[in-house]
Amino acid sequence: MSDEARRIGVLHGPNLDLLGRREPGHYGSETLARLDERLARHASGRGVELVTVQSNAEGALLDWIRDRTPEVRGWLVNAGGLTHTSVVLRDALVASGRPFVEVHLSNVHAREPFRDRSLLADVAVGVVCGFRGESYLLALDGLLAHLDAG
Ligand code: DQA
Repeated sequence: MSDEARRIGVLHGPNLDLLGRREPGHYGSETLARLDERLARHASGRGVELVTVQSNAEGALLDWIRDRTPEVRGWLVNAGGLTHTSVVLRDALVASGRPFVEVHLSNVHAREPFRDRSLLADVAVGVVCGFRGESYLLALDGLLAHLDAG
């Protein structure tokens, strides 16, 4: 793979900017900045470059996906609450033509019933949830294995 082919987009949706002080029982105490650093180190060890966004605005996430699509091979997506509600985010990811892994820090299936439903899971390569920040690292390895398998 060329360098460009090893670039992955990482999308953090609404409220993930609050990590570290938001419901630590579900999400742990690591901040988003620390998690992004750890993920970037993990990626770099695998020869992968990341481009990352966090936004609380659905439209900004759609625009980011559209603009970044030409330069990435795939996505890691923690859409936060939009996972359970957003047809337009699902449509943007499918339109990108790039594979993605759905990621969650918490085990969404062990929480309120409305979190059990995802509008993304059936069009994702896979879903990783429940391992707090490790979910992202596991998801990256899964996505790379999927891409390498061609
Ligand atoms: C989350 C789970 C969602 O249900 C919730 O709305 C979030 C975070 C997670 O990472 O566990 O904002 O995506």
